[in-house]
Amino acid sequence: MTQPLQPHRIELDDVVLRPFVIADEDAVAEALRDPDILRWTAGTAVIRTPADKRALRWLEPRIEGWARGNAVFAVADAKTDWVLASVTVRDVNRVPDQAVVAYWVSPAARGRRLGARALDAAARWAFARDGLGLHRLSLDHALVNEGSCRVATRAGFQLEGVMRDYYVEATGRRHDSHLHARLATDQPGATAGS
Ligand SMILES: CC(C)(COP(=O)(O)OP(=O)(O)OC[C@H]1O[C@@H](n2cnc3c(N)ncnc32)[C@H](O)[C@@H]1OP(=O)(O)O)[C@@H](O)C(=O)NCCC(=O)NCCS
Repeated sequence: MTQPLQPHRIELDDVVLRPFVIADEDAVAEALRDPDILRWTAGTAVIRTPADKRALRWLEPRIEGWARGNAVFAVADAKTDWVLASVTVRDVNRVPDQAVVAYWVSPAARGRRLGARALDAAARWAFARDGLGLHRLSLDHALVNEGSCRVATRAGFQLEGVMRDYYVEATGRRHDSHLHARLATDQPGATAGS
């Protein structure tokens, strides 16, 4: 049984991690026009929604996600508050002391390691005693998604193995996937700041 989470805000230099709000619809619509965000992160229900209604279909459950044990962060520009990316810490404590993370970066904001920096910040909060107090965070990505592998590794999520035919696209196509994880006790290594 998952517990509700208190919505939280994390400030980095140039961006802020904060809960999504309905006013983010245009920024989310822009992100969902990217075929890779749709393919790897949006889920079948969003993909099957008409394009002009997808952003709301994506947003509403994520705004409500905190109440259901999912910390869904918008990564917004610190000056304009425009959403550039998203990081989710989901299924918090479904397995005791653990959660699963996922992320995307809007095409216009790519190329400055924002995914790894935001993922690292969310992980530090998830491990902190005054955050979620978790021990293990895991993630998966299709083997062909090499950019996601770089983000995971740079944010300190070590490769643990290959899960055969794990990820199933909305088309039904299956992909072998990497399992990565970061533990609260892992020593700082090649993380986002380095
Ligand atoms: C994966 C994603 C979050 C990376 O965005 P980003 O944080 O802006 O990443 P960057 O462009 O700064 O690149 C980060 C690293 O990945 C590498 N990279 C990026 N795209 C790559 C690609 N297609 N193939 C190989 N490496 C790639 C970069 O060279 C960089 O490596 P470095 O840190 O060693 O220098 C973004 O491409 C995205 O949102 N993709 C679609 C959604 C997705 O796949 N989410 C993850 C689902 S598991």
